[in-house]
Amino acid sequence: MSGIYIHIPFCKQACTYCDFHFSTSLKRKDELIDSLVKEISLRSSYLSDPHIGTVYFGGGTPSILTQKDLGRMMDSLQHTYQIDTDAEITLECNPDDLTNTKLRELKHLGINRLSIGLQSFDETELKWMNRAHTAAESESSVKRAQDAGFENITIDLIYGSRFQNMAQWKQTLYKAIALDVKHISAYNLTIEERTKLGHDFMKEKEPAIDDEKSSEFFLEMSEILEKHDFIHYEISNFGKKDFFSRHNTNYWKGVHYLGLGPSAHSYNGTGRQWNIANNARYIESIGQGKTDYYETETLGEKERFNEYMLTGLRTMWGVSLDYIKAHFSQETYFHFLAEVKKHMEREHILEKESIFTLSKNGRLLADRIASELFI
Ligand SMILES: C[S@@+](CC[C@H](N)C(=O)[O-])C[C@H]1O[C@@H](n2cnc3c(N)ncnc32)[C@H](O)[C@@H]1O
Ligand code: SF4
Repeated sequence: MSGIYIHIPFCKQACTYCDFHFSTSLKRKDELIDSLVKEISLRSSYLSDPHIGTVYFGGGTPSILTQKDLGRMMDSLQHTYQIDTDAEITLECNPDDLTNTKLRELKHLGINRLSIGLQSFDETELKWMNRAHTAAESESSVKRAQDAGFENITIDLIYGSRFQNMAQWKQTLYKAIALDVKHISAYNLTIEERTKLGHDFMKEKEPAIDDEKSSEFFLEMSEILEKHDFIHYEISNFGKKDFFSRHNTNYWKGVHYLGLGPSAHSYNGTGRQWNIANNARYIESIGQGKTDYYETETLGEKERFNEYMLTGLRTMWGVSLDYIKAHFSQETYFHFLAEVKKHMEREHILEKESIFTLSKNGRLLADRIASELFI
């Protein structure tokens, strides 16, 4: 089974913190959808296994598209690939797009998992983020989606802004729990250079992220959500039993995927490809039948191992000694054994039956620990 990711590079307005690839001009939307439909068939030989278990419309804001736009892509996918009858089909949505009509359309199209970007329930914070929805809409969009028959709903939250204190963060978590969503992704706010937040930070109009506060929020969140039957299966992801993101779990487990649309990445076991993050150039290149809209990298042992550390350690499945033995050289195997010892002594990494996972405190330092294990 493989996965397909489709990047929709449009948003109503730019959130102050976000440096994902998107445009707020919809002028070339129709041309872009034409190109995406073409790319779906152009890239059909990329995956060695044409059976598709997950499809993920991400962005940007896929919920900005019309039923016709999404329908064209769904039809093209169905014609080109063998989409499993039981496939997980996710669409990222912004709360303000989720009218009752839109929800009905999405259901009709076969979307069976909604990822709704709530970010916060606090009006001041939402304004500061330049979100296009109110706090009331954050809540009501989830309820309406449930009423429309969507059971598999995940929400995105952001923590660590200067507006939050622990009491407020806990309130946010309890509100999310009360909404009875099956999955929560919670991201620590990061200040990205090429964003309004990044510029304001450079001009000292915004403070740096308080790492200590973020760590406290993280630990509290993990404890509260675990008490409410969410399984903390990846650093930023919590799911109820049977409701983990199948698509993202496959990324972390090294399952092959094809990424379509500007800025999308692909992986087929031996190499990676990434599409140009520029809508005009993507449209022009596909229109002219050229392949210069993507770049390719062949992965060597070093890249594969480092990636395995970076993604594997972030999950509750960790990294496995048997896997390392089977997929990497003896030299890499011994490198891992020597390096992992130090982290085990600090109790940042735990070992059980040759599976290595991060401890709770280790999770706070995940990226640093992974990079210390790199070759
Ligand atoms: C790129 S958005 C796409 C989905 C949708 N447009 C939305 O806004 O919810 C995916 C998620 O990334 C997270 N995100 C984006 N930039 C971030 C940042 N600088 N810090 C933390 N989280 C961020 C947000 O939680 C957002 O929901
Ligand atoms: S967070 Fe979502 S809506 Fe906001 S700019 Fe990024 S992709 Fe667009």
